[in-house]
Amino acid sequence: MKEIRTAVLASGAGSNFKALVKGDTGPGRIHILLTDRPDAGALVLADELGIEGRCLYPGPYRTKFSRDEERNWADLLLDMGIELVCLAGFMRIIKGPILEAFPGRVMNIHPSLLPSFPGLDAQGQAFRYGVKVTGCTVHYVDLGTDTGPIILQESVPVLPGDSRDSLAKRILEKEHLVYPLAVKAHCEGRLSTDGRHVYIRDTAGAV
Ligand code: GRF
Repeated sequence: MKEIRTAVLASGAGSNFKALVKGDTGPGRIHILLTDRPDAGALVLADELGIEGRCLYPGPYRTKFSRDEERNWADLLLDMGIELVCLAGFMRIIKGPILEAFPGRVMNIHPSLLPSFPGLDAQGQAFRYGVKVTGCTVHYVDLGTDTGPIILQESVPVLPGDSRDSLAKRILEKEHLVYPLAVKAHCEGRLSTDGRHVYIRDTAGAV
């Protein structure tokens, strides 16, 4: 099967980036790590993992791109022959040029069972709310914040004695399992989207 060049965009520690590099993503191959933060742990990991890592200027805003800078990022990704973009702890809202350049080909992982607890600190939101079950979601990215069609979800129980951080740690372990699975299914051409519904064919072709 043809290799699918994949880029990961991360702003933080990069553990999901590492899980994508180390995990079974089928024909998906992580080609580059892009970050908006020179101090991102993901850059150090990229070096250790032998993957090219670059920090690019995102524009003057703290949590969004300027349109020109997002256009530059999109052009770079296109020039590199990237076919799939995976957001992994990327703390900047993308809305314009990257989505236009990669329609239906930008994924994100979020640490809650969407549509519950979108936005920042989803683990803390869920913990404080007192839910008994939370988890993580891999979804395609659309114009909203954490609103795109859901690809895969994995649940995580909230246990007696949990803190926000112990819960977040167990969610992260599930994230590392589920993100490579979603990338693999996408890169094998086993995902199809109809409105909000993403259908997953198994390797034998059954939905
Ligand atoms: C993860 O919890 C991810 O779901 C969220 O940000 C965190 C990133 O962690 N979007 P890491 O940088 O991949 O370790």
